[in-house]
Amino acid sequence: MQVISTISELRARLSGERSIAFVPTMGNLHEGHLNLMRQAGEHGGCVVVSIFVNPLQFGPNEDFDQYPRTLIADCARLHGLADVVFAPAVNEMYPVQQTLFVELPPLANELCGAARPGHFRGMATVVLKLLNIVRPQVALFGKKDYQQLHLVRQLTAQLNLPLRIIGGETVRAVDGLALSSRNQYLTEAQRAESVFLSQTLQGMRQAIEQGARNFELLQQQAAQALAARGWVVDYVSVRNQSDLRLADCESGELVILAAARLGKTRLLDNVEVGLGA
Ligand code: PAF
Repeated sequence: MQVISTISELRARLSGERSIAFVPTMGNLHEGHLNLMRQAGEHGGCVVVSIFVNPLQFGPNEDFDQYPRTLIADCARLHGLADVVFAPAVNEMYPVQQTLFVELPPLANELCGAARPGHFRGMATVVLKLLNIVRPQVALFGKKDYQQLHLVRQLTAQLNLPLRIIGGETVRAVDGLALSSRNQYLTEAQRAESVFLSQTLQGMRQAIEQGARNFELLQQQAAQALAARGWVVDYVSVRNQSDLRLADCESGELVILAAARLGKTRLLDNVEVGLGA
């Protein structure tokens, strides 16, 4: 496995590769990421992983400085899973001030975009830069960041990028908490409480599967239940899987998405629900 930090060296290394599977990350790798690497390996070509904490997607009061940077441990975990790790410094990715950004559809200002203005614009801009640098045939993103995955699919489809985007299933701790690099910010008491987010979504899924169709009421009840236990809720929302618009009763494939804070830690989760024909 090679660790490369410059774009020119990476391009030279990848120039002879016929098939590249790419997993962009911000590092601090956990089983969720490693699962994506394993899926990438199934494509049979060269597996490239990027590790870059992208300043453009963090707001001024967010955790950019605090975000765990664990390159040595990450590389140790990647042995046998990746062929190339691309770990650029900020000034390699942004040698001049970035004044050109990807303009996303209005959905980028909803859900996580409402709580984190500019986040998806910064995410999409770095993803487009990374795709231009790596030129993969497939790129893999976790379904835990469901809205991100949806927007990346829009980006690649609407800009005619010649690659396939694959969504990897969310990996969970035994108690159901979705794995995330930010889970390590939780205190012991918050970690015990954190499982209530996935339990709430599972409860909503069961209610919908058993016939509940007043999605607004379900959303309100879930948000209230979380708030009553000390969570600060950004959103709980039932959407169509296909376009992430608010769900209506006709929709066959739904997804329930939530983001809420426990203390300073913002947690995301989602669960897919099929209503059948
Ligand atoms: O999901 C992430 O880790 C980041 O948003 C990504 C896709 C690597 C872009 O910085």
